[in-house]
Amino acid sequence: MKTDNRMEKIVALCKRRGFIFQSSEIYGGLNGAWDYGPLGAELKRNLKADWWRAMTQLRDDIVGMDGSILMSRAVWQASGHEATFTDPMVDCKTCKSRFRADQLATTPCPQKPSKLVNTCGGELTEPRQFNLMFKTYVGPVEDERNLTYLRPETAQAMFVQFKNVLEVSRKKLPFGIAQIGKAFRNEINPRNFTFRSREFEQMEVEFFVRPTEGKVWLEKWLADRLAWYESIGIPRSKITVLDVPEADRAFYSQGTYDLLYEFPFGTEELEGIAYRTDYDLKQHQEASGKPLEYFDEETREKFLPHVVEPSAGVDRTALALLCQAYDEEEVADDKGAKETRVVLHFHPRMAPIKAGIFPLLKNKPELVEKARSITATLRQHFPVFYDEAGAIGRRYRRQDEIGTPFGITVDFETLEGAKDGPLAGQKDTVTLRHRDSMKQERLAITDLLPRLQVALA
Ligand code: GAP
Repeated sequence: MKTDNRMEKIVALCKRRGFIFQSSEIYGGLNGAWDYGPLGAELKRNLKADWWRAMTQLRDDIVGMDGSILMSRAVWQASGHEATFTDPMVDCKTCKSRFRADQLATTPCPQKPSKLVNTCGGELTEPRQFNLMFKTYVGPVEDERNLTYLRPETAQAMFVQFKNVLEVSRKKLPFGIAQIGKAFRNEINPRNFTFRSREFEQMEVEFFVRPTEGKVWLEKWLADRLAWYESIGIPRSKITVLDVPEADRAFYSQGTYDLLYEFPFGTEELEGIAYRTDYDLKQHQEASGKPLEYFDEETREKFLPHVVEPSAGVDRTALALLCQAYDEEEVADDKGAKETRVVLHFHPRMAPIKAGIFPLLKNKPELVEKARSITATLRQHFPVFYDEAGAIGRRYRRQDEIGTPFGITVDFETLEGAKDGPLAGQKDTVTLRHRDSMKQERLAITDLLPRLQVALA
């Protein structure tokens, strides 16, 4: 399909079908914050569960944790965030708006939306640094002593708890800690739907290695993460690997790969994989005065491990899944006339609803009863949707539009016996329709669950 206004169509679908709404919409919205509706919440849960399973359950060298959003201000001082977690900002004296100084050439002017901020003629101030962390106070007294920040990344909890996790998990190097959670950044210009938000979720691993093995693990993590994206339906061909030049890396990084996805609005970062050396542990060891070294029982050496950090955004990956899945196809309707089918080709594991279940006619109690009974059985295992309203073709289209991989229809052959095919004469069969091919096959009701479980594994 054509890519023009593709993004607008995806945003409209997200709202229409309940994937993503603007936060506080009835009050005019809150810029940079989003609410995930019923389908968006399922999509995100599937995504996070898949990442968590891949990082923790399927490996024995990573354990999980769930750190607090509020941490001591000392953490952010030691990590360098308080001093340097900034973006350059300019003010426009003409329209009184604020912009990221490094994005003027891609930011539309709020007063003249057909122009960009660098050409609209507004008078801009010199850039100055703006700290992206949201301030808050812990306790009832709002003074400097009680100041802290909402975490701008989940990473720091894994560094400051490194010793505790190491001790309780009894792991040896190389080993990692995984975490999923909210992060907050007061972005100067949130934009591109959920892509750059002020509140978002991250999925991060801090992987601790011997200092001599950092570079090797950076390459291993690159391969691992690319394979994971492919496994959830984001093809390798849509990801660009940027080997970030030294001048653009954090000063402590000895190598960083950015994984960029080809979004409709441009090729932009999905995940960063950074070899952070021992910077973070060293900072926290020095600032806290608590030893964070690892004792190698074989060599009898004590040292600070180095860290490779694959850090991905939940919201950006969910957006990539939506963009990757969205398609418009020309198909024939029930009467053979051409119509456009909007379909989300989600990987079955990512799809919010796994199967739609339809009695062919809603005024035939035997069909309804069987369809409801199938629904009751399948919903014990995964989310399904029972729908008896409207023509069967329309019901299929409604599920196609939200990416439901399977449609199960209870029809007269279910009651009377299959007319033909390998199950000819057999009762209690249904049609199983496949979303992508739209092909249908007949299947015994008793075979439905095992069949779907294989497809969803
Ligand atoms: N601990 C390293 C770290 O936080 P980052 O590159 O700043 O690195 C990691 O963030 C990932 O978090 C990004 O690749 C992106 O997927 C996500 N992310 C960062 N800022 C975001 C924002 N404002 N909105 C949505 N996702 C964001």
